[in-house]
Amino acid sequence: MAPVPYVQPVVKSTDIFKADIFKGKVLFCTGGGSGICKGMTKSVMRHGASAVIVGRNLERLTQAAKELSGLTGQPCLPVQADVRKPETLKEAVRKTIEQFGRIDFVINGAAGNFLAPISGLSENGFKTVMEIDVLGCYNTIKATLPYVRASKGSYIQVSATLHYRGTAYQVHVSAAKAAIDAMNRVLALEEGPHGVRANVLAPGPIASTEGIDRLTAKNADEAVLDPEAFKTRIGAKL
Ligand code: HXC
Repeated sequence: MAPVPYVQPVVKSTDIFKADIFKGKVLFCTGGGSGICKGMTKSVMRHGASAVIVGRNLERLTQAAKELSGLTGQPCLPVQADVRKPETLKEAVRKTIEQFGRIDFVINGAAGNFLAPISGLSENGFKTVMEIDVLGCYNTIKATLPYVRASKGSYIQVSATLHYRGTAYQVHVSAAKAAIDAMNRVLALEEGPHGVRANVLAPGPIASTEGIDRLTAKNADEAVLDPEAFKTRIGAKL
């Protein structure tokens, strides 16, 4: 008798949790206007939470918020802020509290990336990614912590795996993500006793995201073989 083929059951990840498990909770997500942070926001909202998505491009955020609310039936507030500027983040937190009264979950997802060899990366290029990723993560933690403590909530920092070993053309991002991992360990240690959880999520490459579009082999080849053409094509100011 022929063996019966194994059929993988189709289970949506959302099916395994109670649909309203996050009812009454509020998510504050930087970088939530696109990519995996938008996907994570959708999943949290699908389980009953309200969300605030934060980023630099208000048009994109507004569009994303409309889409997320339409898909989940939950409110989503788009707020423009630059994670490098603490005052804009504090204002985003103020708007969150004004609208929803609390913050339970924070996803630190705002990030910047491009391919560049150490020899071709300017000091400002390195500094820019460190500021968006590392300072941005710190600023977001600082601005939200009183509210996350009050709700005994949790943080997710979006990191990567590329700094576990050397990854070519990623010195800036490798340094930044290693710093984020370290920052999270301290946050978890210090804030655990206050009831706050802090974890790092380290995704690999994910198709159809801006991040992976920027890191294709074609880009890598061009960044090294013809850096000027590469920078012109992707709009860098060098
Ligand atoms: C070399 C570059 C460059 C490039 C920018 N720079 N692009 N250098 N190669 N391709 C340099 C500039 O010349 C400048 O230095 C400095 O970086 C700052 O550039 P600006 O354009 O002025 O900065 P800004 O407008 O603030 O934009 C930040 C950015 C941009 C990071 C450069 O790409 C951005 O906004 N990205 C956000 C979206 C994004 O990157 N998403 C992907 C995240 S994915 P000089 O010396 O000229 O002044 C991710 C996943 C990683 O992180 C893991 C995947 C596995």
